[in-house]
Amino acid sequence: MTARCLLLLGASGRLGATVRRTAPPNWRLDVPTRIELDLQRLASGDTGPLEARLAHAPPEVVLNTAAMAGVDACEVQREEATAVNALAPAVLAKVCARAKVPLVHVSTDYVFGGIGSQRTGPYAENAVQCPAQHYGATKAEGERGVLDAGGRAHVVRLSWIYGSAARAFLDHVLGQVDGSGQAVAVFGAQRSRPTPATSVSKWLLALCDLLARGQAAPSILHPVSGPSASRNQWARAILDDQGHDQVPITEAPMQVRGFSKTAVRPVDSRLDGTATMRWAEQVGMPALLDWRDSPSSN
Ligand SMILES: NC(=O)c1ccc[n+]([C@@H]2O[C@H](COP(=O)([O-])OP(=O)(O)OC[C@H]3O[C@@H](n4cnc5c(N)ncnc54)[C@H](OP(=O)(O)O)[C@@H]3O)[C@@H](O)[C@H]2O)c1
Repeated sequence: MTARCLLLLGASGRLGATVRRTAPPNWRLDVPTRIELDLQRLASGDTGPLEARLAHAPPEVVLNTAAMAGVDACEVQREEATAVNALAPAVLAKVCARAKVPLVHVSTDYVFGGIGSQRTGPYAENAVQCPAQHYGATKAEGERGVLDAGGRAHVVRLSWIYGSAARAFLDHVLGQVDGSGQAVAVFGAQRSRPTPATSVSKWLLALCDLLARGQAAPSILHPVSGPSASRNQWARAILDDQGHDQVPITEAPMQVRGFSKTAVRPVDSRLDGTATMRWAEQVGMPALLDWRDSPSSN
């Protein structure tokens, strides 16, 4: 079996590490570090390292999981966030289009949930972007840059990724369980869709495989796994799954117990994945694990 080559950007990140771990043996992964391929430099037009990479080991597909994904950091380091999330993806997509390599670009539900034409979810694939903070605004601009580049480019929006490499919310919830029966505090006024990292990584790799075989896919995809949830509902599922079904949950404002936030969070950024999941079933994409079946590990 001839190995396919995938250029994976962001391989050291939470999602990228999971993609790397789940890649089947028929994929050979090229995983440049930030030093080898810096998106800030790419944003400023320095395409040399990327073009050299594409020429040296031509990939069948490029998967971009690299981003400045810290929502609060983006609010503070605004220029870096704009470069990495908004400008670099457009340059990446143009280089991929010139090289005739399909690009899968990972984005986020945080392109929704702010003040815009539609204030509440669920947001379909073609809904008008309406980010609530700088992170979402930069990711929204990045999406537009990717889709306007003219090649075979696909934006995959994900939300609330969790798993062994993405433990922030799991640790926030389980870290408060101290055996005294004290309530676990979560920021309750937020709804989205938890997404198991391993399952969605396999899905992304299947999409890459399909594109490598020359098949078509929609330009914007919302792979969703199970119903939407509030933070409260997700925390309840995590606690029950870990045997802490007696531990109560209290809804708290954001500034509690080291959970204070700089950037505004969307209250409702639920993705509607009806069109994506219909397409996925038609073309035989793998089913996504329902997050309720494994809410605290993946
Ligand atoms: N985590 C979530 O819950 C979530 C939810 C929805 C959507 N997403 C999206 O999913 C994707 C992956 O997120 P994640 O949580 O895995 O992010 P992450 O853990 O913060 O990883 C980000 C990756 O991007 C790389 N990176 C950052 N700046 C770079 C630069 N200037 N040049 C090259 N590489 C750079 C990082 O490399 P270093 O190791 O060198 O820093 C790291 O590999 C992002 O597009 C994000 O918007 C995430």
